[in-house]
Amino acid sequence: MLSVKTVEWVPDTPGRLLPGRVRILDQTLLPDNIRFIETSDIEVVWRAIRTVQVRGAPAIGVAAAMGVAAAAQRLDAPSATALVSKVAELAGYLATARPTAVNLFWALDRMKRAAARHAACLPAEIKETLVREAIRIRDEDAAMCRAIGEHGVALLHDGDTILTHCNAGALATAEFGTALAPVYVAMERGWTIRVFADETRPLLQGARLTAWELGQAGADVTLICDNVAAQVMKESRIQAVLVGADRIAANGDTANKIGTYGVAVLAKAHGIPFYVLAPSSSFDFSMPTGATIPIEERGAEEVTSGFGKRIAPREVKVYSPAFDVTPADLIAAIVCEKGIAKPDYRLSLQRPAGGQALPAE
Ligand code: MRU
Repeated sequence: MLSVKTVEWVPDTPGRLLPGRVRILDQTLLPDNIRFIETSDIEVVWRAIRTVQVRGAPAIGVAAAMGVAAAAQRLDAPSATALVSKVAELAGYLATARPTAVNLFWALDRMKRAAARHAACLPAEIKETLVREAIRIRDEDAAMCRAIGEHGVALLHDGDTILTHCNAGALATAEFGTALAPVYVAMERGWTIRVFADETRPLLQGARLTAWELGQAGADVTLICDNVAAQVMKESRIQAVLVGADRIAANGDTANKIGTYGVAVLAKAHGIPFYVLAPSSSFDFSMPTGATIPIEERGAEEVTSGFGKRIAPREVKVYSPAFDVTPADLIAAIVCEKGIAKPDYRLSLQRPAGGQALPAE
C-alpha cells in the first residue's frame, strides 16, 4: 500500500484538532519528488486543484473540504450568520477550480450544509464543525474505496491482467483508490494480478502516477503508450478494463479522463468487459444522461510543451478536452461502495446488487 497520503488535515498544534491546515501531496512533482503543500490559504487550494497538484475526483473533493475548513479558521466573522455566509463564499470560489468531477461540488455542498446546520451556534463551534466534517468526508472516502475493492474483486480472477487508464488509485482518493482498489484487495489475498497502465496523454497520470503507486505497492505493472491498448487487447493479454469516474449520470453514462471512451470502444471490439469503479459521491442523478456533463478544456501548452520541452509548433491550433463520456452501453458493470450495478443502470444504480438504496444527496 502507498504510505504517503494524498490529502490530510494537519493541526497547527499537535494534540489539538484546530486550527490547522490542509496538507496536499503535490502530484505534479511525481514520480521523482515527494513534496507537500501545507496551507490554509483558499487561493493556494484553488490553484492546487486547478493545476492538478491534487487531482482525481474523490481527492479533489477531500482537498476542497479541508481547504474550506482551514480557511474558515482564519475568518474573523462578527456573528455565526456572517461566518456561514463567508463559508458559502469560500465554497463558491473553490467550485470554480475545475468543472467535471462532481465530487468537488458534492464535498463543497456538504461543507456549506454543515455550517448552515449550526447557524445558531457560536462561530468557534461552526469552525470546529467544519474541521470535523472535512475529516469525515476524508474518512468516508477511504471506507468507500475499501468497499469498492471488496466488491470489485469479485469481477476478477487470480492470474488476470487488467488494463487501466489515467490514475484512479490511492493518489486519486483519500486511500486505496477506486479502479485499483480490487487490485490491492486481490494482492492482499495473495492473487497474481498484472496491470497494464496507459500512459494517459497529455498529463501522463498513468505513467507518472499509476505506474509509480503500483510499483510502490509491489504490484506487477507494465506501462504502455496510449496507442498500444488496441494491440495488447488483440494479443489477448487483457481480461478486464478497470477505470474510475469523474461523474456518472443517472443512466450510467460516465465521464472520465480523456481517452477512456476510446478504451471502452476497443474493449467492446475485443469482447473484454469494461468496468467503472467509483464512490457514490461521483454519481450525479440530476443529469439523466452524460450529454450535459460539463467537460473541462485545458490549455494548449499541456499538449505542445509537455514537461518543459516544446514538441509542436508554437502557433499550432490545439483542442484539449480533459475528459470524455463513455456511453452506458459500453459499460459491463459499475461498482460503488454499495455493490455492483449491472445494466439497466437507470434502475440498478439506485440500488446496486439489489441492496441498500444510495443516499439521495
Ligand atoms: O485530470 P485528473 O487527473 O483529475 O483526472 C482524473 C481521472 O479522470 C480519474 O480517472 C477520475 O477522477 C477517477 S479517480 C478515482
